[in-house]
Amino acid sequence: MTATKGLEGIVATTSSISSIIDGVLTYRGINIDDLAENATFEEVVYLLWYGKLPNRSELDHLVIELSGYAQIPQQIIDQIKLYPKDVNSMAALRSAVSSLALYDAEANDMSTEANLRKAKKLQAQLPTVIAAFARIRAGQEPIAPKSGVSISENFLYMLTGKQPDKVAVEALDKALVLHADHELNASTFAARVTVATLSDIYSGVTSAIGALKGPLHGGANEAVMAMLEEIGTADNVTNYINEKLANKEKIMGFGHRVYKNGDPRAKHLQKMSQELGKITGNMNWYNMSIQIEDIVTGQKGLKPNVDFYSASVYTSLEIPRDLFTPIFAISRTSGWTAHILEQYENNRLIRPRAEYTGPSHQAYIPIEKR
Ligand code: ACO
Repeated sequence: MTATKGLEGIVATTSSISSIIDGVLTYRGINIDDLAENATFEEVVYLLWYGKLPNRSELDHLVIELSGYAQIPQQIIDQIKLYPKDVNSMAALRSAVSSLALYDAEANDMSTEANLRKAKKLQAQLPTVIAAFARIRAGQEPIAPKSGVSISENFLYMLTGKQPDKVAVEALDKALVLHADHELNASTFAARVTVATLSDIYSGVTSAIGALKGPLHGGANEAVMAMLEEIGTADNVTNYINEKLANKEKIMGFGHRVYKNGDPRAKHLQKMSQELGKITGNMNWYNMSIQIEDIVTGQKGLKPNVDFYSASVYTSLEIPRDLFTPIFAISRTSGWTAHILEQYENNRLIRPRAEYTGPSHQAYIPIEKR
């Protein structure tokens, strides 16, 4: 038995949800470029769960259904109020999502209908949890979700208490479309491993949030913004990046296990970053990002991934840096839950083997002789 580090190149399951073939990403066979240009996030959510695009009434119904589930139990709000004010936002989300199961009477109902309903509740409630967390730590009261409103609009409304403008809603919505699913990425794999034991969907999504938190995965978007802030202005970019590369440090937001010729989602986010920079009148983050890309791609051949330009996009939307990864989780909940439902449909326990590299033939030494 020989291990493959990081399971690189290992095909661990079959799936009909999303594919990455020759660098092209599709959801249910539809190119991500088409979806990014044309679809709303709710259309994509429907596509991932049901395997087809919704017609108008199916889409309207889903928006109403999701906003109907968006309210979170008062106990979750009370719990968030007890979290330390400076707690990591992904740790807060992980804890709150785990707790949502405690207040859902059908948390352990494993019927297909109940699991789809729980997927909808999770999709609807994550934005409410994150907005409530952001407001509570700022000393403000959480705002209840509106009904009949899209996830993007509702999230920005619950976060700020103001009706968000159309440009912001559309930009967030496109970012959610681009992050919704990505084949067997680390967090989706974590979700599938968890539910393949026939554990419940809340456990699966909680595992996935834990995996997404790390800076090699979803946590990279926040790390990119931290880097941009540390660099400060375009004049400092060259020295800063050259020094990092000389020290063999990783530049966050670059590289990908699967894409070697560029992440197809990055160009959409780059364009959004530029457009939003023009609208806000602050091109600093975009200009710095372009300069960083030139250096990193020029010297290392590494291309930006989905996280790189997300950082400046979310900053232009005035979203606090530590909510970037939670927003990724809002979007990816659609993919996680689609994969969990698919796993349940044709389940087998996921239990690989390890190549043992420890000592052999060791004698047991009684404790008094050690
Ligand atoms: N900056 C500098 N060098 C890099 C980077 C980077 N961002 N990414 C990879 N490299 C280098 C590595 O140092 C390594 O060089 P070496 O062979 O000389 O040691 C080589 O490229 C291969 O890198 P690995 O880390 O082995 O590649 P792997 O496929 O395991 O990792 C990963 C992919 C984790 C995305 C990696 O590129 C990385 O750490 N990037 C930065 C973090 C990041 O942006 N993560 C978000 C990914 S997208 C997502 O999850 C949503």
